[in-house]
Amino acid sequence: MLKLENVTRRFGDFAAVDNVTVTIPQGQMVGVIGRSGAGKSTLLRMLNRLIDPSGGVIRFNEVQVSSLQGAELRRWQRDCAMIFQQFNLVPRLNVLTNVLLGRLNHRSTMLNLVGSWSREERAMGIMALERLGIAQTALQRAGTLSGGQQQRVAIARALMQQPKMLLADEPIASLDPLNAQIVMDSLKSINREEGITVVTNLHTLDTARTYCERVIGMAAGRVVFDGPANELTRDAVRMIYGADGDELSEEITSTSLGQPDGGREESLGPLEPAA
Ligand SMILES: Nc1ncnc2c1ncn2[C@@H]1O[C@H](COP(=O)(O)OP(=O)(O)OP(=O)(O)O)[C@@H](O)[C@H]1O
Ligand SMILES: [Mg+2]
Repeated sequence: MLKLENVTRRFGDFAAVDNVTVTIPQGQMVGVIGRSGAGKSTLLRMLNRLIDPSGGVIRFNEVQVSSLQGAELRRWQRDCAMIFQQFNLVPRLNVLTNVLLGRLNHRSTMLNLVGSWSREERAMGIMALERLGIAQTALQRAGTLSGGQQQRVAIARALMQQPKMLLADEPIASLDPLNAQIVMDSLKSINREEGITVVTNLHTLDTARTYCERVIGMAAGRVVFDGPANELTRDAVRMIYGADGDELSEEITSTSLGQPDGGREESLGPLEPAA
């Protein structure tokens, strides 16, 4: 179980994340949504300590994540793998090598210096690629793959860390709809089958609603909604995106939000979950 208590991150006087308290049980799939600048990436980066909190406490079971240092901090960062919008692969290395890089922090420095991978590690890498349906690309240079394939390589690399938690910062923002769906389906099946907690920042409401059992809505660094996707009413959406009904763009809400209703939103009830 991951527990954040009054977690804050300031940049100068500005609080990018402001007093956030949430508890995430192991195995949950959580979508974090909010406008640009709401603090989503900052929150995610604090979870794996790419950024340190300025205040508050982050705990994972008995471990106080927010005060880990040295080898213990590296172990934590291995336990919560991160994937990014821009994939962060090494384009000139082949796919399998990119995936094997996920093993680096499981190995001794000496082994890493020698730079050879064992049969077991290679087999594990191929299995991770198979899990993502792209084993046939193993020997191709990563830079030659489509965006959707590259993101799946990044997920396979994350799996090599044998993480307890997968953090994804807008994993589908650079992908076309079909590849976006393939990548989200992959995250969902890893979440279901491996019981790995997934926390992902998403910029469309529909994706969060379709894939995430729980949605956390952020505005100006604070959590303004936290609940099941089917409780995302029009009012809740308005609180998260801070816009009037007419200003809620298609891009954010997609089509299932329906038409502006002339201000009688209280009669709408929960929105239909996406198909
Ligand atoms: N290193 C930094 N120095 C100063 N300000 C920062 C830094 N990182 C983030 N911020 C500010 O903190 C706020 C939250 O940024 P963050 O990147 O977390 O937002 P976000 O919700 O991920 O936005 P987006 O949807 O655009 O990715 C923004 O106002 C941003 O300018
Ligand atoms: Mg961001």
